[in-house]
Amino acid sequence: MSENRIDNVLHETRHFEPSPEFRAQARYSLEDYQRLYRQSLEDPDTFWGSVASELHWFTPWQRVLEWNEPFAKWFVGGQTNIAYNALDRHLQARGDKTAIVWEGEDGEVRRYSYRELHRQVCRAANLLLSLGVQTGDRVVIYLPMIPEVAIAMLACARIGATHTVVFGGFSAGALADRINDSGARLLITADGSYRKGAVVPLKSNADEAAQSTPNLERMLVVRRTGQPVPMQPGRDLWWDESLEDVPDQHEAVALDAEHPLYILYTSGSTGKPKGVLHTTGGYMVNTYLTAGAVFDLKEDDVYWCTADVGWVTGHSYVVYGMLLNGATVLMYEGAPNYPDMGRFWKIVQDHRVTILYTAPTAIRSFMRAGNEWPAKYDLSSLRLLGSVGEPINPEAWIWYFQTIGGGRCPVVDTWWQTETGAIMLTTLPGAHATKPGSAGVPMFGIEPAIVDNEGHELGADEGGLLVIKRPWPSMLRTIYGDDNRYRSQYWGEIPHVYFAGDGARRDADGYYTIVGRIDDVLNVSGHRLGTMEVESALVSHPAVAEAAVVGRPDPVKGEGIVAFVTLQTGAQVGGDELRAHVSKEIGAIARPDEIRFADALPKTRSGKIMRRLLRQIASGEELKGDTSTLEDAGVLEQLRTVH
Ligand code: PRX
Repeated sequence: MSENRIDNVLHETRHFEPSPEFRAQARYSLEDYQRLYRQSLEDPDTFWGSVASELHWFTPWQRVLEWNEPFAKWFVGGQTNIAYNALDRHLQARGDKTAIVWEGEDGEVRRYSYRELHRQVCRAANLLLSLGVQTGDRVVIYLPMIPEVAIAMLACARIGATHTVVFGGFSAGALADRINDSGARLLITADGSYRKGAVVPLKSNADEAAQSTPNLERMLVVRRTGQPVPMQPGRDLWWDESLEDVPDQHEAVALDAEHPLYILYTSGSTGKPKGVLHTTGGYMVNTYLTAGAVFDLKEDDVYWCTADVGWVTGHSYVVYGMLLNGATVLMYEGAPNYPDMGRFWKIVQDHRVTILYTAPTAIRSFMRAGNEWPAKYDLSSLRLLGSVGEPINPEAWIWYFQTIGGGRCPVVDTWWQTETGAIMLTTLPGAHATKPGSAGVPMFGIEPAIVDNEGHELGADEGGLLVIKRPWPSMLRTIYGDDNRYRSQYWGEIPHVYFAGDGARRDADGYYTIVGRIDDVLNVSGHRLGTMEVESALVSHPAVAEAAVVGRPDPVKGEGIVAFVTLQTGAQVGGDELRAHVSKEIGAIARPDEIRFADALPKTRSGKIMRRLLRQIASGEELKGDTSTLEDAGVLEQLRTVH
């Protein structure tokens, strides 16, 4: 195991029990959790079958699980439609209830009732059909946080097209890679998006991407920012104009439970992101269950998850899990600090948000900005807080709990991954005591363990690798187009268990604390990035000969990116130019915080870059461990000097 990269040591030993008021109204008590958790492991067919039967199936399933390691089929033989369950199912009881309330960065507010959202999704589904999109086709969605992103996803799901949402902060190159890997023929984008008052030119990124995507035939363009954009005749269509004469009636297609719902690209330990494939039935059942349970959803809640729909959190807990529960979801388009550090708290006040789900990075940056910002606003509507995406340090947890939650709102720290589809470790807010810095206990049907490198289970408080010992309904089914990589990375690293890639430990009460990634994946502001991805971007610059990228602890972002670079003989380039180059190749989230130049990188005699040493150098630590295998000890001194 690599060293603990994030300072997550628990100096905080307080536990927080849910208040009697919260407990009294909560969906699950501790006894409920214990009984249902036991049942979910001892009799999974009954457990999952009963959750699934709360949803609509066009054809009932014959078997809950068919497990042919590492390939799972859930609800075998069943036919359903997740968009039907998210919309049509609510029309009678919740037709007039707000499904989405959206606030633009410029302050514009739009509301969609379940009936209106259903109408819009039906029209969009008909539009996709009229453009020749068929069940099984892939559609790439490259949109800002506007309601159309949810409408486009649900329209795809309604007709059985597999969507691939690409985060709007990714560059043209990253977009092109995803269009090509998924083989999509249609892209849905926007003229632009707003970020800190400026326009991000999405359409021009899409045009640039389209120069290297031979499969792409069509672009639908949502009007958001209104600046003139070139429209290529025969290829590009305006979303609003195309929808004008399209009927708003559409029957959702009955799809096999294992029909591919979406592909979401995420970073791994190679240079190219991998397409995580999620399917329909199991994903639907588990996001429905976890959204309701973890967020203790009540009919009158106003739930706000600040994640972008470009990430899995947005898929499962902005769109699918929430709408499946008939919840009211708030979506916000813009930056958290625009026009100032009070924006989030103003949104909570203005919309009377009751549940807030955000990332530790945001919490830490608000903490730094000072208590005067939240103090200006009325946060009394809040009743539950959530955290996701990175380890939350106890100090930030306590600040969130006290300053934002007024000490009355339970905090759920939810551990999960793009691959897991749904929350895996958490506390249930009315059931469990919370321990700052520790995610909590397994959700229903999840059987985790901590093991050593050989797969032997470890005991309480022993640090090791986090694995999951059995399949669960929302797990990834494969890496798109690469079953072998799926098998070897997730079920082959440690035989017969799912390998998460995280280091963790479990305490005597059964609470799991996540230490962080143990592979070459960084977590920068809750965004997952592969070191190899950033390295490939760097070496694509003509001046760069070689690059090695490592993470170093960062007080706000969790991890920062440090790149060590050697240049081609005679080449000259500045750090700023290389940082801008990485931004252009991947997106601003991958821009290194620091670039250090050297004549050579530290390597073993067999030519392997010694990342352990580079990590120590990057974080300014004393060099520890064996350096005797180092080829040229002189390079170390050079690398330690900041230029
Ligand atoms: O290292 C873990 C960290 O984020 C990784 C998954 O990243 P991604 O697939 O982008 O999904 C993020 C949102 C679900 C994990 O391997 N991580 C996620 N949640 C937590 C976390 N680390 C600690 N505590 C968490 N609550």
